[in-house]
Amino acid sequence: MASTFGAAQVLVASNRGPVSYEVGEDGSLHAKRGGGGLVSGLSAIGPDAGALWVCSALSDGDREAVRRGVGEEGVRMLDVPADVHADAYNGIANSVLWFVHHMLYQTPLEPVFDAEFRRQWASYEAYNRAFAEALAEEAAEGAVAIVQDYHLTLVPGMLRELRPDLRIGHFSHTPWAPVDYFRILPDDIAEQVLRGMLGADRLGFLTRRWADAFTACCDALVGGPGDTRIGVHGLGADADFLRRRSHEADVDERMAGLRAEIGAGPDGNARRTIVRVDRTELSKNIVRGLLAYRRLLADRPEWRERVVHVAFAYPSRQDLAVYRDYTAEVQRVAEEINAEYGTPGWTPVVLHVKDDFARSLAAYRLADVALVNPVRDGMNLVAKEVPVVSDEGCVLVLSREAGAYEELGEDAVVVNPYDVVGTAAALHEALSIGAAERAERSKRLASAATALPPGRWFLEQLEELRG
Ligand code: F6P
Repeated sequence: MASTFGAAQVLVASNRGPVSYEVGEDGSLHAKRGGGGLVSGLSAIGPDAGALWVCSALSDGDREAVRRGVGEEGVRMLDVPADVHADAYNGIANSVLWFVHHMLYQTPLEPVFDAEFRRQWASYEAYNRAFAEALAEEAAEGAVAIVQDYHLTLVPGMLRELRPDLRIGHFSHTPWAPVDYFRILPDDIAEQVLRGMLGADRLGFLTRRWADAFTACCDALVGGPGDTRIGVHGLGADADFLRRRSHEADVDERMAGLRAEIGAGPDGNARRTIVRVDRTELSKNIVRGLLAYRRLLADRPEWRERVVHVAFAYPSRQDLAVYRDYTAEVQRVAEEINAEYGTPGWTPVVLHVKDDFARSLAAYRLADVALVNPVRDGMNLVAKEVPVVSDEGCVLVLSREAGAYEELGEDAVVVNPYDVVGTAAALHEALSIGAAERAERSKRLASAATALPPGRWFLEQLEELRG
């Protein structure tokens, strides 16, 4: 009898895949490979492991690639209809589930769960079903499938029904909401999300705090997590890759450019730098970071002309009006600070909004202080990457609401992200730490930050599932 099973032994599923396509002017397709923890994690199992990455087409170029049958080995891109994907990704995943887990609602007026929400939820179900069906089709008997993130919370339950033989995992790269906040969701939806995830054999979270929050939601809403195991895997920085990449020629070039933009203070010494690198993401708290810097310049005039805030805020989720507004607010506040304090030879805030990885690494290398102050964050890899790449050591100002706080809090200057006065004081403290202590702290941070490199992070989960 012919087998109805596929050939893949290890499957990962995520909304965004490792490759994207653009249609050139001559109609040809150009592939662009992405990076990130999952890409290097998966490469740890080697090319012969029978791995398949199932992801969604996100752009017209991606859809065109699927239609033309163009693809990379080991990747299956799903051509979910554009309107269904937009409802699921923008409408539900990024405007509801992301907001719940990062506690981003301004609750006097939002959210409103009306008929439009129900319509979008049906798209979220359809999009999750498309993933479950593709995984069911591609998986070999007894294979392991690890589903990623809040986009795909219903997949484990759906896949379990289609293929009870599989070992199913799910990993959350976000925080998990506390029970009272999670219950903002309509009761049936909250229950559906939890039961969907509990279709997995094992669920992974970035920190104990998020894992415990999930368990508390299960206890309150569905009588506990049942047989599903829950584990913590604190994804670390990829030291080998970062150290190599940050010493390539384009990074040196960017460093020279940045040094020229930063300039020297009145004493002739290079100015100190407070660096931040983020997607322009609501949870990253870039505006309060700028307000804290303004407070520093107001309260501590001795830093004027002697420090520059280098802020890279790269575009993200620009289909959503609230993200576009936030991006504009970041630019407005930065300009305000420059207008208020800038002098002919000193630009207090150097803001760049065009994504440039080499320039980010250059900023990591020369940072005196790294500012990572999210209102809430699953982990925050920038907090882990800067100390690894830093040339002469860097002080980390870190929000206690970032997942990275669990591993890095001891050697960082810790802030309450809502407290702008407190953050300004922390910036002053960080700038005042001497070179020797800065280097020592940075060394300890780098070692904690690289405790679980992406390859081991992925293999750990695989081993747990294979049991
Ligand atoms: O933090 C959760 C996460 O899914 C990350 O894994 C990823 O970097 C980001 O959010 C996804 O953003 P985007 O919406 O641009 O795919």
